[in-house]
Amino acid sequence: MVQQATAPDRLPDALIPSLAAALGAASVLAGPDIPPRNESDWSTLGPLRPLAVVRPVDTAGVAAAMRICAEHGVPVVPQGGLTGLCGGARPVAGSVALSLERMVGVEEVDTASATMTVRAGTPLQAVQQAADEAGFFIPLDLGARGSCAIGGNLSTNAGGNRVIRYGMAREMVLGIEVVLPGGEVVTSLNKMLKNNAGYDLKHLFIGSEGTLGVITRAVLRLFPKPGCTMAALCGLSSYEHTVRLLNAARRGLGPLLSAFEVMWPDYWDVVTQKVPGIRSPISGGHAGYVLVEAQGIDEAVDGPRFQAWLERQAEEGVIADAAVAQSLSDIRAFWGVRDAAAEFKQVLGPHESFDIGLPVAAMDDYVRACRAALEQRLPGIFALFYGHIGDGNLHIVAGVPGVEPQPKQEIVETVYAMVREFGGTVSAEHGIGLTKKPFLPYVRSEAELALMRRLKDALDPRGLLNPGKVL
Ligand code: FAD
Ligand code: LAC
Ligand code: ZN
Repeated sequence: MVQQATAPDRLPDALIPSLAAALGAASVLAGPDIPPRNESDWSTLGPLRPLAVVRPVDTAGVAAAMRICAEHGVPVVPQGGLTGLCGGARPVAGSVALSLERMVGVEEVDTASATMTVRAGTPLQAVQQAADEAGFFIPLDLGARGSCAIGGNLSTNAGGNRVIRYGMAREMVLGIEVVLPGGEVVTSLNKMLKNNAGYDLKHLFIGSEGTLGVITRAVLRLFPKPGCTMAALCGLSSYEHTVRLLNAARRGLGPLLSAFEVMWPDYWDVVTQKVPGIRSPISGGHAGYVLVEAQGIDEAVDGPRFQAWLERQAEEGVIADAAVAQSLSDIRAFWGVRDAAAEFKQVLGPHESFDIGLPVAAMDDYVRACRAALEQRLPGIFALFYGHIGDGNLHIVAGVPGVEPQPKQEIVETVYAMVREFGGTVSAEHGIGLTKKPFLPYVRSEAELALMRRLKDALDPRGLLNPGKVL
């Protein structure tokens, strides 16, 4: 039985002075000094004011904050870049928000081990840049790269654009340091690729959305910098052709295949017609659009090989139309079409977004069935479909124009009921947080949920760390 902490209904008098004494006054923001940005994440849950925002600068500060909050029985909600889409980092009533935003920077690049040790609050883009400057490559990449933090990426086991080749965030970590709910520090900054000495504890914390411990530092794997990148945007005449292209890419591009992103026409039309600054490299009117990317070693060899592979797909009728990137600026423009999803808040108005997982073969049937069910239940609704289809991960953005508040419950019930029917998952990459909690039993058995609860109870017996999230 997971304990749900009973949050104090008022600020315990000694809490702020104790935190300020231990961490320094500049690390503790309370009352009118609480920044509005710390009141929510990117989910549609709306703001909730924490009792205070604590912003430690090192692991000792995180440990002190956790210990002091535990002494006062006050729940703690870890916060990274606050780009999460399911309410995981949104404060709960009567909680302290523990922001990692000042714990930034790369501590070490070890070129022999090909590892980088980073502080948890470092923005993903800064981590990518530091790797690049050191002559390496961090393959983890997502649209929120400029704002999300590496600690948040690991806590959500983020996916993103290159999972098909490099795996999810979990695959890119060799060691972590965590602070447990009572303030105990567990430093496990392993750099070895092979280490089977006992339980691999890092995997408990990666993807657990800040419910078991606070990640303070991590050892990331560095990968060789690709020598060249090739990309094409393709128009296809059916989903069957999309699956044929995926299989052809797996076979024909082999380990070079680094992204296979699919956009249904509803997505394409909105992005190319309504998002400012988007250049459409091919004409519209197709049943599906694919951004295929390959990263090679030698431009002189891999560039023509990619071009020849693509021409073969055209000759065999797999693709109806395609544009091949001729420059880095073309590659950026192609990704611009895909990353434009970040603009949907402004372009579409209020909506719900999803990150479901489905067997690749069932994807288009799901899209049709889901769209029909949404339109039947909520006439006038818009629903856009796109995603990392090579990884079996479909994104949906759905909302009823001009309606406030949105019929959230009806939208999410319709989408998830159908996920259950199709044997998918309610979260392929963003996590459960608060918004998907009621639907976790759709896709996890009672035995799985019971084991999750036992782990939570063992690590956080008083239920003070990110209470009410996930379970
Ligand atoms: P936050 O939102 O701050 O927190 C997320 C969760 O992790 C919360 O539960 C929080 O309590 C916990 N947490 C944060 N830091 C720590 C820590 N140091 N220790 C313990 N727990 C912690 N996600 C993908 O997977 N793939 C995508 O392609 C993708 N694209 C996106 C595009 C856009 C435009 C946006 C807005 C979001 C996207 N996301 C994507 C979702 C989001 O960016 C990721 O979930 C990201 O990993 C969250 O990182 P963050 O630092 O913003 O975490
Ligand atoms: C994306 C986010 C929403 O892939 O995960 O655009
Ligand atoms: Zn995604």
